[in-house]
Amino acid sequence: PRPMITDKFGRRLQDLRISVIDRCNFRCRYCMPREVFGSDYAFMSKDELLQFDEIERITKIFVALGVKKLRLTGGEPLLRKDLPDLISRLARIPGLEDIALTTNASLLGKMATDLKEAGLQRVNVSLDALDDQTFMSVNDSGFSVHPIIENIYQATEAGLDIKINMVVKKGLNDHQILPMARFFKELGITLRFIEFMDVGQTNGWNFEHVMTKKDMYQQLSKQYELIPVEPAYFGEVAQRYRYRDSSTEVGFITSVSETFCSSCTRARVAADGHFFTCLFAGEGMNLKDFLRSGFTDDELRDVIIDRWQKRDDRYSELRTEETAKRSSKIEMSYIGG
Ligand code: GTP
Ligand code: 5AD
Ligand code: SF4
Ligand code: SF4
Repeated sequence: PRPMITDKFGRRLQDLRISVIDRCNFRCRYCMPREVFGSDYAFMSKDELLQFDEIERITKIFVALGVKKLRLTGGEPLLRKDLPDLISRLARIPGLEDIALTTNASLLGKMATDLKEAGLQRVNVSLDALDDQTFMSVNDSGFSVHPIIENIYQATEAGLDIKINMVVKKGLNDHQILPMARFFKELGITLRFIEFMDVGQTNGWNFEHVMTKKDMYQQLSKQYELIPVEPAYFGEVAQRYRYRDSSTEVGFITSVSETFCSSCTRARVAADGHFFTCLFAGEGMNLKDFLRSGFTDDELRDVIIDRWQKRDDRYSELRTEETAKRSSKIEMSYIGG
């Protein structure tokens, strides 16, 4: 049996999110605004990125500490060279029950079969609109909706389990809530509406931009009757519902209006090997330096245990206009969401 380590609030270490690259081919206005992430932005060099050996080693240590779920993120993780090779190595780790990926799906179509064969099970696709004009104003990189939908079809055909993530920002894409719901209901694909969060310090967040679950639920209720669905496991991020006349589900991720820090079992590792205990953390622990200076697995394990046992993060519960402006928060594209 694996040990169970808990933090200051008794929260277990159960999920690991590893960012495999800090780059992205989109420039979503709320995540990597072009003014900040321009052509002169200093992304990580190849040497700064964790290598596959290092990612595998870190994952094994976390799994030995109780982690069962792994999610690979970015930036855009499919930009990481040879990602299927990494996945097939991770898929062989005993005790790791679930491997998932969060992606913008622009490269998913042609990679879907390789990813599935490598052992990937689930993919969450970020898609914020169905109409091109809105989608293009969000991604700010000229990507249109149709190829993304095609890639979603291909991924489904390859046998990947797909969910859609829609970040809803008032005035930007809230008019897309109903069209998105209708479209993905028909397809039988789960759509999750995500409250816009104050991650990082470049996305110009304030409370007025947030469409809360209540706002979104009200819009949906005009067209559909929703029935609550029990969480699939402790600490599930999304609140789930099912349409009365179908088995298709919708979810809400209410990181602003109904926080879920008390059940937060997630550890995060950035692409350069920094370990964070919260999405809104200011400082991480540089595991890469430990790896590259010859730490043994036991030594690595001990620093991770020690860090987790000291963990007292609950940022979303404490969020105010003031904390949202705090200048030490790391960016979403760096920590991977
Ligand atoms: P599933 O395992 O499929 O439920 O994935 P997930 O919802 O945990 O991960 P995903 O990458 O799809 O993230 C969906 C949204 O939830 C994103 O906006 C994330 O930033 C947000 N999210 C995930 N974990 C946390 C968390 O611990 N805290 C906060 N505040 N937001 C989170
Ligand atoms: N608030 C909420 N979700 C966000 N994401 C990116 N930026 C934000 C934000 N400010 C989402 C992405 C992706 C997931 C990892 O996080 O759309 O689906
Ligand atoms: Fe890229 Fe995702 Fe950020 Fe958009 S939200 S810029 S797709 S990492
Ligand atoms: Fe976990 Fe931090 Fe998100 Fe709270 S704000 S749920 S502690 S990652």
